[in-house]
Amino acid sequence: MADVLLLGGTGGLGRALVSRLLVDGHDLTLLSRDPVRARDLLPASVRLAPVDQLEELVPGHSVVVNLAGEPILGRWTAARWARIEASRVALTQALAGLVQPGSVWLNASAIGIYGDRADEELDHRSSAGSGRLAELCQAWEAPLTGARSRGVRSVALRTGIVLDPGSGALASMLFPFRAGLGGPMGSGDQWQSWIHVQDWVEAVAFAMSAPVDGPVDVVSPQPVRQREFASALGAAVGRPALLPVPAMALRLAMGPASELLLASQRVEPTRLLAAGFRFRFPTLAVALADLLAEAGARPA
Ligand SMILES: NC(=O)c1ccc[n+]([C@@H]2O[C@H](COP(=O)([O-])OP(=O)(O)OC[C@H]3O[C@@H](n4cnc5c(N)ncnc54)[C@H](OP(=O)(O)O)[C@@H]3O)[C@@H](O)[C@H]2O)c1
Repeated sequence: MADVLLLGGTGGLGRALVSRLLVDGHDLTLLSRDPVRARDLLPASVRLAPVDQLEELVPGHSVVVNLAGEPILGRWTAARWARIEASRVALTQALAGLVQPGSVWLNASAIGIYGDRADEELDHRSSAGSGRLAELCQAWEAPLTGARSRGVRSVALRTGIVLDPGSGALASMLFPFRAGLGGPMGSGDQWQSWIHVQDWVEAVAFAMSAPVDGPVDVVSPQPVRQREFASALGAAVGRPALLPVPAMALRLAMGPASELLLASQRVEPTRLLAAGFRFRFPTLAVALADLLAEAGARPA
């Protein structure tokens, strides 16, 4: 069992990970900007501390997991983009100077690092792409290189679209799709690399102990085109998903953040599979059926 220090553990993914790590008997300490609010969100066995105790607490832990970051969905105003960057890059830079040789550091990142790549098959060996998100992700991952050279096993969790009915992209799509107002976004040709939240949690727990180092793509082995995604979600909620949302409408409504929905990223989890990780929900239909049954979302 490890002594694990978590940042960003009050978020949608963090809370799911905390439950899983407690089952394994790990000793968890969580740094939060608001430990009082965090107390209401997390089990009593998780120790809490304010994030300004970073310098004191990081060196004493054998595993550090950083999931912190200003939410990226929504319109990127200048002030918001500054928070999106600072909460990821500055915090990760600070951690790089504190993690100890021999320890394990798992840091959030995203498949946004690949940019918009049409039908190209991508994995951790692919070059980074261009665009705001790709540049952000490169700056976010850069501090891990320095830590790795000091003997810290440093893993960038290049996460795809995590499907969780309670948070993130799926939560925001459920309402229109249940109302029969869903449909493909943009051309519908773009690839989406998704993962069931339970597989995401298992993959991160796996990366804590498996000998993986460097960037790891945390996505299911079966990415789909956006059109197939919309149709599978429509089928899963028992409603037609035929109303297309034109790319222009998304660009007008979301500005540059429309990249999140329109960029094509066909990513393979090569490193996880090579290390022996097995997905419980490799296909989208099975993942959605499970997630929506769990959420009680399927109409009678
Ligand atoms: N969910 C996805 O599909 C997805 C996909 C790709 C990458 N990721 C990345 O994975 C990480 C976790 O995702 P998530 O969906 O769980 O995120 P989330 O729910 O938005 O939570 C992230 C946590 O970050 C902290 N935080 C929020 N704004 C902050 C700010 N301005 N400065 C410092 N800390 C801040 C908060 O913790 P405290 O309030 O306790 O400090 C929050 O609970 C994020 O870095 C995200 O970008 C997620």
